Amino acid sequence: MAPATDAARRTRALHEARFGCAATAFGHAPGRVNLIGDHVDYAGGRVLPMALSCETHVALAHSATDDRFASEFEGDADWTRYARGVLIELRAAGIAVPPVTVAIASDVPVGAGLSSSAALEVAVARAALALAGTPLAQGDVALLCQRAEHVHAGMPCGIMDQWCVAHARPGEAILLDCASLAWRSVPLPPTLAIDIVDSGVRHALRDGGYAARRADTEQGAARLGVAQLASLPPARWSEIDALPERIARRARHVVRECARVDAAVNALDRGDLESFGALLLESHASLRDDFDVSTPELDAIVEHAVANGALGARMTGGGFGGSAIVARRVTQP
Ligand code: GLA
Repeated sequence: MAPATDAARRTRALHEARFGCAATAFGHAPGRVNLIGDHVDYAGGRVLPMALSCETHVALAHSATDDRFASEFEGDADWTRYARGVLIELRAAGIAVPPVTVAIASDVPVGAGLSSSAALEVAVARAALALAGTPLAQGDVALLCQRAEHVHAGMPCGIMDQWCVAHARPGEAILLDCASLAWRSVPLPPTLAIDIVDSGVRHALRDGGYAARRADTEQGAARLGVAQLASLPPARWSEIDALPERIARRARHVVRECARVDAAVNALDRGDLESFGALLLESHASLRDDFDVSTPELDAIVEHAVANGALGARMTGGGFGGSAIVARRVTQP
């Protein structure tokens, strides 16, 4: 991936080339990779995502007419929905964003499960807030961007991506409780390397699979009489067995995945990389067998990594394609 500064340069050049004037406000945000804790954010669970060093950059200026967009993602018609949606939500929140020309360049791979959409949303919000001269807390930026994705892109996502992208520094992992939105950074041992392997299968989370999984977890919570599945105490986990078979598998994944996130953070704190790796593998098996969001390509990456001495590996993000992570032990620098 090219350095972030290159995307900044390309964004400014694109604005000048397409709109014939220099941009006057700028924003950027990183992609993210989730280390563990997938398909639990919308169920009130804990997650451990990490901000990447690759970023999306946005350059803006006042537009003489209406909002106009130029982007490096021209092949993907969806990107304007995210950018436009954020502008609409900012104005609906009473922030005086004038009509704008928007140029977008990104080093975050699109459709690879690395939150290119959240990076785009937060970068657009930051640039538009800079132009309007209105400060907004990062938590409010994240929630506004999540809402833009729900309403204008039709994707009923949780809060993990926007929160991580808005708060974490590049290279930093954060533990986020998606129910309370309490979070803290989690240092990674210098002997741990995380590789990201793109399966090459492009996911389209809005194709219905994501929303269907979310609906299953909500049905499980309703049947168990809890607001969100992650709040089901371990003493009641045996009640999951009485749910309809598919709903039971979804619920089992959520409660166990949250426990795995806690165990993974403990393992990192202790520097116990073997346990951390084993938890990644358990997470993958759960997402594959109980949540049905893996693919043969992602399974093959995980199997290959383990066969070649990795500490652990798992699919990451929403699934149905995208990327896997591989954890390796490296010699301390
Ligand atoms: C997508 C969503 C997130 C989260 C993950 C799965 O990335 O945007 O909110 O649900 O899938 O963990």
